[in-house]
Amino acid sequence: MSNTQKIKVLLLEGINQTAINIFKNYKIFEVETFPKALPENELLEKIKDVNFLGIRSRTQVTKDVLAAAKNLISVGCFCIGTNQVDLDAAKSRGIPVFNAPFSNTRSVAELTIGSIIHLLRGIPEKNLKAHRGEWAKTAKNSFEARRKKLGIVGYGNIGSQLSILASGLGMHVYYYDIESKLSHGNAVPVDSLEELLKISDVVTLHVPALESTKNLMNATRFAQMKTGSFLINYARGNVVDIDALVENLESGKILGAALDVYPTEPKSNKDEFKSPLLAFDNVLLSPHIGGSTQEAQENIGREVAQKLVNFYKDGTTAWAVNFPEINVETLVKNSRILHVHNNIPGILGQINKIFLEKNINVEAQILKTDENIGVAVIDIAGELTSELLKNLSTISGTIRVRKI
Ligand code: NAI
Repeated sequence: MSNTQKIKVLLLEGINQTAINIFKNYKIFEVETFPKALPENELLEKIKDVNFLGIRSRTQVTKDVLAAAKNLISVGCFCIGTNQVDLDAAKSRGIPVFNAPFSNTRSVAELTIGSIIHLLRGIPEKNLKAHRGEWAKTAKNSFEARRKKLGIVGYGNIGSQLSILASGLGMHVYYYDIESKLSHGNAVPVDSLEELLKISDVVTLHVPALESTKNLMNATRFAQMKTGSFLINYARGNVVDIDALVENLESGKILGAALDVYPTEPKSNKDEFKSPLLAFDNVLLSPHIGGSTQEAQENIGREVAQKLVNFYKDGTTAWAVNFPEINVETLVKNSRILHVHNNIPGILGQINKIFLEKNINVEAQILKTDENIGVAVIDIAGELTSELLKNLSTISGTIRVRKI
């Protein structure tokens, strides 16, 4: 790629303006945007000369798309999930994939606070009754949040942010995490999930979807909860055994629940939402929008675009989901090489042999590997010639070499 040639960025699915602004700050990028995903045949055509691809959840970046993307440097998923991209195929072509795992943390934490208050006051049920013309004015089963015990399961990004907000509201915060986590404010860690469930007035789940968290809240766990308590699941649908929740709502042990995620969710807004929970007025249901706010979209736009720019400018792969992570200092001289190769013994030796033969001084060198590939970022003294890049690319096992 010559110095004057613009770097082509294709942003699909209406990616936020903040992303476009980041690319525009650097005059080297030429950005093309589409409000929707492209049909596969159009994408296959368009991708041929694209250097950076930005997508959200609808675009499928398959092996075929990657094979057609001869000039692709990196893919940015402007969302949380990355399973719409064939990550292994991207990696084997030396293409790192970035996403924005934490840009909507605050949005989920805020919504959880709102739901805690609504549940404690029986608002889901009272709201539905009011819509039906029923006047349910009563203080029965209505509580202030102040001094109630909030049990947070999973004290990660969202759980800990929520902890701060809930403490501000005057709640007594307890949490359980499988890892040791530093508590915020007066939040108290407990040793077991059982202990947390036994003491909490409101239990809120903020764990990832793992085999170990599947049906984490099952019949046994509901039995450990306080009678008259509330459950919130804004994490992932399969963390709660819905049949067990239904039983506990029917028995009145659980006074109310709020859910944003479900074991099966409609694929699009046109599909019908089905769940046994529809039968319960005291359950607050939302369509997986915990992280869906304008601010989160703006943050995602900024975060992912900056990661792509950093990878282009400096070779930084930090936070890539399918690549060994290298966090390098900003490039000050125009003499950096990114060498991506299969993780087989001796490649670094061969790279350095070429430098030795050409009497080139290495100023800095970082290598990171995973089980499949290795990524080396090398700063050299003097000029970085196209001949040198060619020599480096002929080393057996090389996936790609790029002048940074
Ligand atoms: P995170 O990775 O920062 O935190 C998760 C925490 O859960 C970690 O501290 C981990 O050690 C802990 N953990 C894992 N297994 C556990 C177990 N069995 N018991 C107790 N703790 C356990 O994740 P983050 O960003 O806080 O997200 C939490 C959840 O929220 C994820 O499932 C995520 O997918 C979901 N989420 C939902 C959104 C929505 O729209 N409703 C939006 C964003 C995230």
